[in-house]
This record gives sequence, structure tokens and C-alpha cells, in this order.
Amino acid sequence: MARQVSIGVLISGGGTNLQSIIDAIEAKKLDAKIQFVLSNKADAYGLVRAKNHGVSTEVLDHKAFPSREAYDQAVVDLLHARGVELVVLAGFMRLLSPVFVKAYSNRIMNIHPALLPAFPGLHAQKKALEYGVRCAGCTVHFVNEECDEGPIIIQAVVPVFADDTEEALAARILKQEHRIYPRAIQLYAEGRLRVVGRRVSVDGFSKDEDQVLIQPSLAR
Ligand code: GRF
Repeated sequence: MARQVSIGVLISGGGTNLQSIIDAIEAKKLDAKIQFVLSNKADAYGLVRAKNHGVSTEVLDHKAFPSREAYDQAVVDLLHARGVELVVLAGFMRLLSPVFVKAYSNRIMNIHPALLPAFPGLHAQKKALEYGVRCAGCTVHFVNEECDEGPIIIQAVVPVFADDTEEALAARILKQEHRIYPRAIQLYAEGRLRVVGRRVSVDGFSKDEDQVLIQPSLAR
């Protein structure tokens, strides 16, 4: 059993990734304690998910602050006050200023619904479909001062099919997001992640050279 890492989860919306983290903790597959869930939107459904599981919540509306830096400082103050060690962005629809990134250097994770560095920013699944890629996926990465650019921790790859809609592809990717985000946090809790320049080394995992996805598949 790894030590329990104190996390704060930041959301803006539905919170299905938050749910996957709560579920993994409750199933004792993730050694983390959610100190609180913070949303910049009062009507984010993720707040209901948190309350349903006895997790405390905070709403901090960015519109009430004069600048991005002022907002971020208020968030950092809350995170510090609650003893948060690792910040987990789960659909938090705001760019972080240096004030935030410096306060939690290599201790902020984000999940993005694309195989970074392809398709950063909004509407990643739509961009992937329009580009015509055969494989898409999701990425958990540490957050640096650029958008969707920090060192990559874990990625999952899914096939893209000719008749995919944006919704179908997004749902296929989301299913994998729910698997890799708790895993990334657990690797952190176990002290197995080390950031070396742009690369994150993961201690003690086994290699499988034959693990590939070919799309369209070699079968008829
Ligand atoms: C996910 O697609 C995630 O990759 C992106 O925002 C979405 C959040 O979904 N960063 P949810 O609120 O966790 O359901």
C-alpha cells in the first residue's frame, strides 16, 4: 500500500473523470484522499457527484476576480490551506497562469482527449476526425506554462472508424480517460514518477514490445 496522496480536483463541468477517481479510491485501487473539489462554475454537475460521495466542495467564480493571476492565487491559497499536494485538473476549462504553475511545479496533472502533442486545445476529438487519423486517444500530463504541453505521464490509444461521429469517438476516448487518470495518480502516490526534462520516467513497469494497435486492423 502506497502512502495516501492529498489531492484537490478542479472541474468546470460534468465531472466523469472526477467520478472515475472517486470510484477508484472507493474501490481501494487508488491511494488518494480528495481534500476538496473546486469548480469555477456553480452549476457544474461534478459538484453533485462530489457531494453524493461526501467530498467537500468549493465554488470560486473567476468572474469575481480582477485578473487571471488574482483568481489563481486565491485557488492556490485554498489548495495550500487544505494541505493539497497534487492538483488534478479534470475538465477545468481555464488556462493556468505562472502564479499557479510555479506554486505547484510538477504537481499539477491534466487530462486531454487527444494523443498529445497532436490536437491540443479545444475540440480535440473533432480535429482528430477532420484530420483523418486512424488512431486517437487521451493523455495525462504534468502542467507547465503552455497549454496541453507539459511532460507526458500516460497515454491510451483507441481506433478511429470510418463511420465515427465526433460523439462516438469522444465516448470511446472518455472510457479510456477513466482508466488512465486514476492510474497516473496512483503512480504518483507510489512515488514512481520522475520528471527529467520533457520526459517522465516511470519506475518498475514491464515492457511489452508486442502491444500495438493497427487500424484498419490486419484482419478483414
Ligand atoms: C474530458 O474530455 C477531458 O479530457 C477534458 O475535459 C473533459 C472533461 O470531462 N479535459 P468530464 O467533466 O471529466 O466528464
